[in-house]
Amino acid sequence: MQPREAALPDDLATRFGQVRSLSEALAAPLSDADATVQSMDDASPAKWHLAHTTWFFETFILRDHVPGYRLHDPRFPFLFNSYYEAEGRRHARGRRGMVTRPTLADVKAYRGAVDAALIAALPSLDNAARGLVELGCHHEQQHQELLLTDVLHLFSENPLEPALWSPAPKIPVAVPDAIGWIDHDEGVVEIGHDGRGFAFDCEGPRHRTLLSPHSLADRTVTNGEWQQFIADGGYREPRCWLADGWAWLQREGIHAPLYWEDRDGVWTRFGLDGRRPIDPAAPVTHVSFYEADAYASWAGARLPTEAEWEAAAAAYDPRGGNQLDAASAVEPRPAEGSPAFFGDVWEWTGSAYRPYPGFAAADGAVGEYNGKFMSGQFVLRGGSCATPRGHARASYRNFFYPHQRWQFTGVRLARDR
Ligand code: AVJ
Ligand code: FE
Repeated sequence: MQPREAALPDDLATRFGQVRSLSEALAAPLSDADATVQSMDDASPAKWHLAHTTWFFETFILRDHVPGYRLHDPRFPFLFNSYYEAEGRRHARGRRGMVTRPTLADVKAYRGAVDAALIAALPSLDNAARGLVELGCHHEQQHQELLLTDVLHLFSENPLEPALWSPAPKIPVAVPDAIGWIDHDEGVVEIGHDGRGFAFDCEGPRHRTLLSPHSLADRTVTNGEWQQFIADGGYREPRCWLADGWAWLQREGIHAPLYWEDRDGVWTRFGLDGRRPIDPAAPVTHVSFYEADAYASWAGARLPTEAEWEAAAAAYDPRGGNQLDAASAVEPRPAEGSPAFFGDVWEWTGSAYRPYPGFAAADGAVGEYNGKFMSGQFVLRGGSCATPRGHARASYRNFFYPHQRWQFTGVRLARDR
């Protein structure tokens, strides 16, 4: 986690302010009840996200780098430490929804107090502490996406199917062309963060790797194509499925992407704008790694490796595409150009989330940030409609367990040639 181009003091203050206010804008429509309930163990209450990101700045910058700083509330670290063993005991993850106090207003006051202390401290921070402020901003951006996907999951559990926002105006788009293929010959490529700008520790070191001859699809799989997979018995045919995936499907009664429901013969999906008919031209989302892999097998293809993806995506602007700009209209949309590597949906890869050769976790307290999760998870690439614009990059490695699908996760096909 190396901000190798240290931002100017004013830039960092501006960036900090912008990141902090987007979180508040995302949470603005939520009542205290909306922000307190936890819908499943994997998801956290919005109030917890708002407080945990604040705890991160308070702990790793104010407490550790500002002489004489006194904690806003000495009981909060127990509640808002997520998983840092070095920070001591913490509240059980699955019980975060029981924390009705502090109230949402108390948490907003906590945010205000930490914001003021951090802005006041910024001019006197050394480079190491400034690097942690930068890390804290990227951390909060990760939690902005999680906050939205967790609210979506929570609202999906409400039979009234509430909408957080009104729907985006629909611009009619033609159904996308058949998939085109981007060919790549056998060859050695370099992947990993190149040291320019911020990256998380798990994105390095940059290293060489050999790619076999392959082709990558020039767009992601659409809802319309996923309907064909369903109609063709894709969820009833074990032949396409990994054994773990088939067992998961049977155990959980999976027959369509998360949030899809057949209403009188019409496939609908639930989104942050409520329940609407699926858009056949838009990228499919809320599918697990198991579903992505089964779809690829059904289509006579496979998932890309993360190196294939990065080698192809590095030539494109990571700020492009449908990503999060403001508190409205978060939904995958039909791609406006190809190959659209960034935005809309995180793309499952077939690569295990494991350390690159020579990986070393970041120094100090934040060494637990990424490295200790390198077991049993798969890498996703590209960023989604809920990823704050400016957060994604070609070397970014997101990761989730193969059954998880409440993030905006989708599929790009690859094949050998
Ligand atoms: C990279 C999205 C899997 O959800 O734990 C948040 C992001 N890391 N706080 C997660 C993260 C520390 C991480 N994911
Ligand atoms: Fe976190």
